[in-house]
Amino acid sequence: MKWYILATGLALTGLFLYWLLVITEGVYLGRRVVVWLYDLTAGKYDGIKEFAPEMESFFVVRPLRHRLRHAPAPLILDVATGTGRVPWFLLEDPLFNGRVIGLDASEKMLRLAAEKLKPYGRRAAFAQQTADRLPFADNTFPAVACLESLEFFPSDVAALQEMVRVLQPGGVLLVTRRRGREAKLFLDRYRNVPQFEALLRDVGLVDVHTLPWQEDYDQVFGRKPAVSKQ
Ligand SMILES: C[S@@+](CC[C@H](N)C(=O)[O-])C[C@H]1O[C@@H](n2cnc3c(N)ncnc32)[C@H](O)[C@@H]1O
Repeated sequence: MKWYILATGLALTGLFLYWLLVITEGVYLGRRVVVWLYDLTAGKYDGIKEFAPEMESFFVVRPLRHRLRHAPAPLILDVATGTGRVPWFLLEDPLFNGRVIGLDASEKMLRLAAEKLKPYGRRAAFAQQTADRLPFADNTFPAVACLESLEFFPSDVAALQEMVRVLQPGGVLLVTRRRGREAKLFLDRYRNVPQFEALLRDVGLVDVHTLPWQEDYDQVFGRKPAVSKQ
């Protein structure tokens, strides 16, 4: 009987740790743990993700380019850039003439991003920075992106407020909403489509709309009003 109780205890502890460290990536243990886990696994990130260039081009680069069609050489901010997914696919596109700044809290992820984007010289720049304090003046960027990251921040609201602050009036925000099988395992951090869209409107965006994207993520676009509500 004792071994049965012990085995059940071990199984439950294993499941709990899997939820705490793998599914929710340490978010319930605080930012330092999240970033430490990304530092630890940075070298495997691109291999796990296997980004398909044609999909990135269709779902990320083209929509951004289209929304920025009146800006000949836009400066784009990518928050939680990771290994430089957004900068890389934007700069790989011959029709994109702008520059990208990528911020991330993980030094190792950033190091890989900077290495990968080296051929693009000054068109890509990276800095280590948390998402709740963006080191830029108000109204700086015509577009801000933040993919597959909001659910890992200590406060998605604080990060979104910062992104809206640094967006130019009329600028576009592209973020992702966690969906799919594991989304509700984020418990109180989970937001359904109406809740997520309401949050974006609450932080001052208009024209908010959600597009189904991948199994685990929706894309959500919003625009800062030409005359800021902030
Ligand atoms: C799933 S990855 C997404 C990376 C990239 N946006 C992409 O789509 O490939 C999440 C990223 O968020 C970063 N991150 C986690 N917490 C952060 C925080 N508080 N501030 C800034 N970056 C953070 C991690 O270091 C990691 O690079």
